Amino acid sequence: MAVNEAERRAMSRALELAALGPRGVNPQVGAVILSPEGDILAEGWHHGAGSPHAEVDALSKLDPGAARGATAVVTLEPCNHTGRTGPCAVALLEAGVSRVVYALDDPGAVSGGGADRLRAAGVSVDAGEQADSAHALIHGWLTAQRLGRPHVTVKWAQSLDGRAAASDGSSQWITGPEARADVHRRRAAADAIAVGTGTLLADDPSLTARDGDALYEQQPIPVVIGSRATPDDAAVRRHPKTALFYDTHDLHAVLADLHARGIQSVFVEGGPTLASAFVAAGLVDRVLAYIAPVLLGGDRLALTDIGVESIDAAHRLTIDEWQPLGADLLAIAHPALTTEEGAA
Ligand SMILES: NC(=O)c1ccc[n+]([C@@H]2O[C@H](COP(=O)([O-])OP(=O)(O)OC[C@H]3O[C@@H](n4cnc5c(N)ncnc54)[C@H](OP(=O)(O)O)[C@@H]3O)[C@@H](O)[C@H]2O)c1
Repeated sequence: MAVNEAERRAMSRALELAALGPRGVNPQVGAVILSPEGDILAEGWHHGAGSPHAEVDALSKLDPGAARGATAVVTLEPCNHTGRTGPCAVALLEAGVSRVVYALDDPGAVSGGGADRLRAAGVSVDAGEQADSAHALIHGWLTAQRLGRPHVTVKWAQSLDGRAAASDGSSQWITGPEARADVHRRRAAADAIAVGTGTLLADDPSLTARDGDALYEQQPIPVVIGSRATPDDAAVRRHPKTALFYDTHDLHAVLADLHARGIQSVFVEGGPTLASAFVAAGLVDRVLAYIAPVLLGGDRLALTDIGVESIDAAHRLTIDEWQPLGADLLAIAHPALTTEEGAA
């Protein structure tokens, strides 16, 4: 059965509702219940982990029996598992819904399969309506689901000769204002921003996302990795979000903990030792290298040991974009797939 105009409008509304929910361990999902005539009976969205899913939130606003013969329009396939809440597919069946239109398939191995369950019970189901918009909304969550950890971007600013600091350790600023503004915009889009204790102690960074002197509304959670203590008067302690401190070098463990906290994207801002450890561990999904037309010489390289002993072991990247920013150039790249990975 083709998706009709009322269902299409309801999906646009469901996407707006979904965006009201928090980004976190669970995806942002919206739902609209339509009468057989196409009128909106109820709206709902997911308010975060542990609270009812969007469909159940919408159904809870209706009198018993009011959804009989109705259509549920949902941005994500109704789930099929009992977690902290019951399966949404069952809630829809019990409410007597006769049709379900959803945007994206649920990728969860445990939670997926809701559409099949509904179809098996005789419900008319249509998938894919405005899937691109739904994907754009929960892209971070989907990536974190696929990887089983947050998406990791490693960013550095380097001189044309590949240095991240001058001999005395000073690195502010290698790049110009356009490049730095770009970094702040990208910080604001990340859930967390990580540095090693070396950078914390050398630069005392605030790790905020700023638009000029003003703070962006969305601030990443600052993360400091390493065993050395952070001074009581460090700028990161005045960050609007409470900083997380990890007294470890185990980056897998750090990412697992961030994932469990619902953090879907991490922006690693160095320094060279921490960035290199992420690269060596194969935990980098995207590289942002801001290249400035300046020469620094010396041995403070943008990356240190990444475990490459011969050219055969080089970490090959694929360039997504070369972006000029004032006098600087930003290279956006991701790890190239090996032949085996590509074939998998
Ligand atoms: N150009 C740029 O983009 C840029 C960006 C940031 C910094 N910088 C410059 O870089 C310099 C600081 O760099 P850095 O390399 O010394 O500092 P860093 O990478 O920020 O911190 C290194 C420290 O991180 C800790 N650490 C946590 N996990 C680790 C792991 N898996 N492997 C190894 N170490 C781990 C260790 O500290 P513990 O001993 O405490 O455990 C290590 O000494 C400064 O000069 C700063 O200005 C430049």
